[in-house]
Amino acid sequence: MSRLVVVSNRVSAPRQGGRTGGEGGLAVGILAALRERGGIWFGWSGKLTEQGGNLDVFDAGRITYAMLDLTARDYEEYYSGFANRSLWPLFHYRLDLADFTRRYLAGYQRVNALFASKLLPALKDDDQIWIHDYHLIPLADQLRQAGCRQKIGFFLHIPWPAPEVLVALPNHRSLVNSLCAYDLVGFQTETDRQAFIDYVLRDAGGTYVDETTVELNGRQVKTGAFPISIDTGNLARVAEEAASTRHTERLRASIRDRDLIVGVDRLDYSKGLVARVEAFEHLLKAYPANRGRAVFLQIAPPSRSDVPEYQQIRAELEAACGRVNAAYADFDWTPIRYLNKGFSRRLLTGFFRVSSIGLVTPLRDGMNLVAKEYVACQNPDEPGVLVLSRFAGAARELDGALIVNPYDNEGVAEALQSALAMSRDERRERWRTMFDYLKRHDIDAWRESYLEALAEA
Ligand code: F6P
Repeated sequence: MSRLVVVSNRVSAPRQGGRTGGEGGLAVGILAALRERGGIWFGWSGKLTEQGGNLDVFDAGRITYAMLDLTARDYEEYYSGFANRSLWPLFHYRLDLADFTRRYLAGYQRVNALFASKLLPALKDDDQIWIHDYHLIPLADQLRQAGCRQKIGFFLHIPWPAPEVLVALPNHRSLVNSLCAYDLVGFQTETDRQAFIDYVLRDAGGTYVDETTVELNGRQVKTGAFPISIDTGNLARVAEEAASTRHTERLRASIRDRDLIVGVDRLDYSKGLVARVEAFEHLLKAYPANRGRAVFLQIAPPSRSDVPEYQQIRAELEAACGRVNAAYADFDWTPIRYLNKGFSRRLLTGFFRVSSIGLVTPLRDGMNLVAKEYVACQNPDEPGVLVLSRFAGAARELDGALIVNPYDNEGVAEALQSALAMSRDERRERWRTMFDYLKRHDIDAWRESYLEALAEA
C-alpha cells in the first residue's frame, strides 16, 4: 500500500510526552489512516518567526510530522487575509464582508509556493497526496509545476459557492484552473459539487468527460461528494461515561428540572449566533411558559480574533445576549449562559447528553460536525432533539432533525417550542434514524470512500 501524505494548514501533532495533540474527529480519522499506511502530515507549525520557512520534522511511530514556520507577514496575508477575509466570507455567501486586497492574494500564492517547495523533496514516487481545505487550493498546481507526478486529491471542508457568487472573486478563473491540477476534488455535498461543475461548464468553457469528471484547459479532474463525519461509536461511549462525571453533574444540578438548550460553535459570523439569540428571545416572548424554565447555553470559543469581522461579531453577540438577559432574567434564573471559551470534546459530550435540544443554526456551513456529535452523544432512552439549519451540509443527511431556516427567528422559535413539547416516542424515533445512519457513515467510512475514489481517479 502506498504511503499517504496529508497536507493541511493546521497539523494535530503529538504534544511533548507523546500524546496526540488533536482530539477532533478529523484528526482521529486522518491519524488512523496515517498509522495504517505510514506517511507524512505536513502543514503550518502554528509558529511565526522572523525568517519563516523553517521546517520542523520528527517521527512518531509510522508518521512523520513536518511543520513549517511562517512569518508575521505570511500569517497576515495568507491566513488572516486571503484565506479568512477573501475566501471564507465569499464561500459562506457573505460578500458584504469579503475583502479582495491584492496583497492578500499574493501572500496566499507565496505561502502555497513555499509549502510546495518544502514538501516536494520529502515525496516518494508512489505517495498518495491528500490536501485539505481552502487555505491550500493552489498547492497541487504549484507541485505539478515543480514536476510532481504523484496522485493528488483535495477535500474542501467548507461550502463551494454558486457560480454567481464565486465570480465576485477577482481571480475566480485561476482559482478554478488550479483546482483542475488535482486528480480528485471532494466536496461536502452534492450541491457544492454541482456548483463547481456548473462553473466549469458554464463560466469556464469546460466539458464533461463522464458523470463525475470534467475537463478544463486540457486537464481532467474527477469530482465527488464525501460528507465528512464523526467517530460515532467512540463518541457514544465517551458520552455515556461523561453522563456521570463531575462537570456534567454540576451542569445538571445548575439546570435542575429546567430545559437545557445547547449550542457549541466557534465564534464565527457564519454560525448565525446573533440570529440564534434572537430566535431564543422570540421563544420567551411568544411562549411565556418558557420564562423561568428554558436555559440556553451557548459555548462560543473565540476564533480568528485578529480578523476585524470576528471582533465585530463578538461585540454583536455579547450585546444581544446582554439585552435578552436584561429583559427577561429573574433573581433565580438567567435565560442565556454565554461562554466565550472552549471545552474539551469529552466535557462537551456530557453537556450534549443532559440537554433537551441541540441548537445548530449556521447561516451557511460546509457540514457542521457539532450536529452529528450532538446525535451521537444522546441517551437512547431519553434523547434530545436536534434543531438544525437547512444551510448546514449536515441537513442533507440528518433527516430526524427539525430543519429550520436560521434567518426566520419566529420559525426557529416555533421549532424550539415543538422540540420542547415533543413526545418521548417521537424523540426516540427521530434519534434512532439519525444514529443508525451515523453508525454506518462515520469518519472511517468517509476517509475510506475518499481514498478509494482517489486511488481509482
Ligand atoms: O471548517 C474549516 C476550518 O478551517 C477547519 O479546518 C478548522 O478546524 C476550523 O475551520 C478552525 O479554523 P482555524 O484553523 O482558522 O482556527
